[in-house]
Amino acid sequence: MRSLLFVPGDSEKKLEKGFQSGADVVIVDLEDSVAPANKAAARAVTAGFIAARRKETAAKLYIRVNDLSTGLTDDDLAAVVGVAPDGIMLPKANSSMDATHLSAKLRVHEAQQGLTDGATKIIAIMTETAIGALAAPTWRDANPRLEGLTWGAEDLSASIGARATRDDRGRYTDVFRFARTMTILAASTSEVAAIDTVFVNFRDTDGLRTECDEAERDGFTGKMAIHPAQVPIINEAFTPSAEAVARSQAVVEAFRSAGNPGVVGIEGKMYDRPHLRLAERLLMRAKAAGI
Ligand code: COA
Ligand code: MG
Repeated sequence: MRSLLFVPGDSEKKLEKGFQSGADVVIVDLEDSVAPANKAAARAVTAGFIAARRKETAAKLYIRVNDLSTGLTDDDLAAVVGVAPDGIMLPKANSSMDATHLSAKLRVHEAQQGLTDGATKIIAIMTETAIGALAAPTWRDANPRLEGLTWGAEDLSASIGARATRDDRGRYTDVFRFARTMTILAASTSEVAAIDTVFVNFRDTDGLRTECDEAERDGFTGKMAIHPAQVPIINEAFTPSAEAVARSQAVVEAFRSAGNPGVVGIEGKMYDRPHLRLAERLLMRAKAAGI
């Protein structure tokens, strides 16, 4: 899951484009990109499009439902679980309890639709409310359906009353850096994918590339997109380079051929267990990316 492209669920045209975008995951949105008056129509378009056209894309399909406080989640799930999406994205999660709550709902819908119990995974957006950002440690005991954690800046700024999310130089301010950091740590404690938030200036490709590189450096393994043009940039940034793969293979091989010791020397540099773990993680990501 390197790139996860949002597509508004009420637009067949965008769904069609999203399916052909090369994104690893298409997140069909029933939440913030759909106007309140259009929710019912969006459910019908989403379910109909996926049922009819699913074979046309290699992407995993997630559907972002409306959050648990809206009273809309049950109707969203009733409309879409039957088309067997790979997962549901849960926005504005206040803690891992919300994922447990969603999981219970999914279980009922799966049973009603004749789907395997647990087939529908969850990615949660864990920092869109102040309480959510502060509840990061709860994700340690997350539901087995949880496949990834991501964060959001726009809703958090509305929740706390911050006038901006970034400073004059374009850097996220402290609250948002905190939210970003908590997401990396929470994903690590629950051993799920850490997914960076969207970059909203969709014409600024240099800005996106920089943000992808920083995210990859800091431990994120993928990033959400809002425009198809962002997908190739994200895929490239989160695909380990040939050199990185070769270096990691050399580290793994050095430990293996030395009988799996605590520490080895490679070309005059010390490598111990954390280096081995990093190398193994990178090779897993390379394998997932098909290289
Ligand atoms: N998924 C699929 N197709 C998309 C797309 C997306 N996220 N964003 C744009 N496109 C399509 C457009 O429909 C357009 O198609 P066309 O050439 O057939 O007309 C083409 O890509 C080029 O789009 P462009 O003109 O550059 O942008 P726009 O002004 O049409 O759209 C947005 C800009 C922001 C409205 C659009 O990118 C969008 O809807 N993004 C997703 C928003 C979202 O889901 N937000 C919720 C999560 S934060
Ligand atoms: Mg939102």
